[in-house]
Amino acid sequence: MTSAKLLVLLGALAASAQATDYFFRFVGGNAVTHGQRLRLNNSIPLISPGVTAAPYNDADHFSRISVVDASPSTLFVVPTNPHPPPVPGYYGLSGAEGVPDTFRLLQSYHPADEPAPFLYQAWELVTKCDGSALLRYANDPYDERRWVAVKETTQAGVVRWVPWWIKPTAENFATLAAWDLEVADLELVVATGPVASNAPGGVVE
Ligand SMILES: *[C@@H]1O[C@H](CO)[C@@H](O)[C@H](O)[C@H]1NC(C)=O
Repeated sequence: MTSAKLLVLLGALAASAQATDYFFRFVGGNAVTHGQRLRLNNSIPLISPGVTAAPYNDADHFSRISVVDASPSTLFVVPTNPHPPPVPGYYGLSGAEGVPDTFRLLQSYHPADEPAPFLYQAWELVTKCDGSALLRYANDPYDERRWVAVKETTQAGVVRWVPWWIKPTAENFATLAAWDLEVADLELVVATGPVASNAPGGVVE
């Protein structure tokens, strides 16, 4: 296979690896983001998975993904450290903050009720020659979009880096230029341990 990229629908992947869960981790970016799996806490109002600098908060929980062998291709988030009520969620891309061609990765409990645009039913993976798989969304026929890690400070004063799916354009250039961001990617990681709500991160790895 000489092609550097092979599009694989999540459903096809799940067919060969049923009952396997996954995480996504940043590759690239900076020393804080590179290699770090996405974590969540219960920050309100936006539930954006992200990464922080060490030391990590044991109350965070990893965003563990269960790939459902179904169409459309959704990313179902397993509740690893349930906060009442223990409800699962879905990964989606929110454009609700109004910057053109700029989408925040969110975990949503009720994806169908999110403010539009909210994209969550056409996730794809790009499998590289070395077998690693990168997360993509199907709204990118010309390979113009990128994952970036954007620095933000939570209401509690915690600095974290969260994934955004963006296409640089004339319309959003001024906004993106003002953000503290790093070009990165999101890579699939196979989960090796069980879910354990009392474990750091909500999983035993
Ligand atoms: C979540 O919030 C807590 C408390 O503010 C903080 O310690 C932790 O680093 C945050 N984690 C993430 C992934 O944002």
